[in-house]
Amino acid sequence: ISGMITIDPGYKNTGSCESAITFLDGEKGILRYRGYSIEELAEKAEFLEVAYLLIFGHLPNKEELERFHNDIKAESHVDEEMKKILDGFPKSAHPMGVLSSLTSALVAFNPGSVNVSSEKDMYWAIVKILAKFPVLVAWTLRKKKGLPLDYGDDSLGYVENIHKMMFKKPNHKYETNKIVIDALDKLLILHADHEQNCSTSTVRIVGSSHAGLYASLSAGISALWGPLHGGANQAVLEMLEAIEADGGDTKKYMAKAKDKNDPFRLMGFGHRVYKNFDPRAKIIKVAAEEVLADLGIDDPILEIAKGLAKEALEDKYFVDRKLYPNVDFYSGIIYRALGIPTEMFTVMFALGRLPGWIAQWREMRLKSEPIGRPRQVYTGEKQRPFVCLENR
Ligand code: SDX
Repeated sequence: ISGMITIDPGYKNTGSCESAITFLDGEKGILRYRGYSIEELAEKAEFLEVAYLLIFGHLPNKEELERFHNDIKAESHVDEEMKKILDGFPKSAHPMGVLSSLTSALVAFNPGSVNVSSEKDMYWAIVKILAKFPVLVAWTLRKKKGLPLDYGDDSLGYVENIHKMMFKKPNHKYETNKIVIDALDKLLILHADHEQNCSTSTVRIVGSSHAGLYASLSAGISALWGPLHGGANQAVLEMLEAIEADGGDTKKYMAKAKDKNDPFRLMGFGHRVYKNFDPRAKIIKVAAEEVLADLGIDDPILEIAKGLAKEALEDKYFVDRKLYPNVDFYSGIIYRALGIPTEMFTVMFALGRLPGWIAQWREMRLKSEPIGRPRQVYTGEKQRPFVCLENR
């Protein structure tokens, strides 16, 4: 059998499926959701519209969008028992680990979300997680801050409601502004799907065993947590803060990133598919400058980031390896300006990627894809006789 199998570490040259959801062109820096360019969607659409587009394949009309949002509002309660699971975590727990656990725990309170034999069952399992995951995100943040765990306000838009659940203070009138909500909405759209990346492939392979949507999403959240994947947005901010603490010495970090004996990588740089530029990074860079200016924030970290990007553009090591800023490089700068704690950055990535994971899981289930089970080339011991303990 080993003669027929070729190993492809990290599946760099292996296609896992046919999909009609997201199109990437790594050379031209193109990203489209169901045929619509990311530039147009980021500018003209709202996150909930994009979620609907990714999952069901077309932009919803007014009536479809309203019904979708109303169905989500109707399911936005979370069983109070879930708070006991949240209570079990120390305050120091990383929110990605908490949310992966809470997402898996949701199965116990929504058993109908597992055996989704009809599209109707699938629809309700999808609506419930789109409704409840933001509540769990808000509760996780509020638990860390010692704030009461409550709900948002169904009279608000989907993203504004998320912001209110995360940030409203007891005994204070909830205040926000359009700049903040629009920036958050745009960031969630930019993270919504990205074809067969590590966490989406994880959702697909776990879902291929028919373990259910929430178990598959819980696994996807864990995969996204890694610093080589979604965890990079937190690692970028920590790296930029370290450079700032080092007096802005970007050259030192560039040298470390190029030193093969140093495990340090320039976080937020490089991409498996984009070998030119990540179109999302271009949009987020502009948005970061606009949001900080609109909010009157002068954050030296943005200047350090821009300096690093400029230096890498002129550095042979990075140019030869086609390493450019990716989606994670500038996003943390906006999250920070919006008052989101660094530890929650990857959670914001998960919040954005949720509809993409759902869309990919739904496509895989509707096509009745077979269970994922790759082969291997065996390189271990030949057959050998057992030796009893006293003779070893
Ligand atoms: C995301 O797949 C997706 O679509 C992911 C994502 C999505 O939307 O789902 O776009 C989101 O995960 C973006 C990536 C976030 N990760 C980081 O920013 C972490 C830093 N980047 C790297 O770890 C790396 O670039 C990856 C993980 C993004 C891509 O890894 P690959 O494709 O496996 O590339 P590689 O590790 O084989 O690197 C090729 C070369 C190596 O050097 P050589 O052995 O050829 O000499 O480039 C070097 C690497 O050492 N390299 C880097 C580097 N990234 C690659 N060197 C220094 N700093 C880096 N950031």
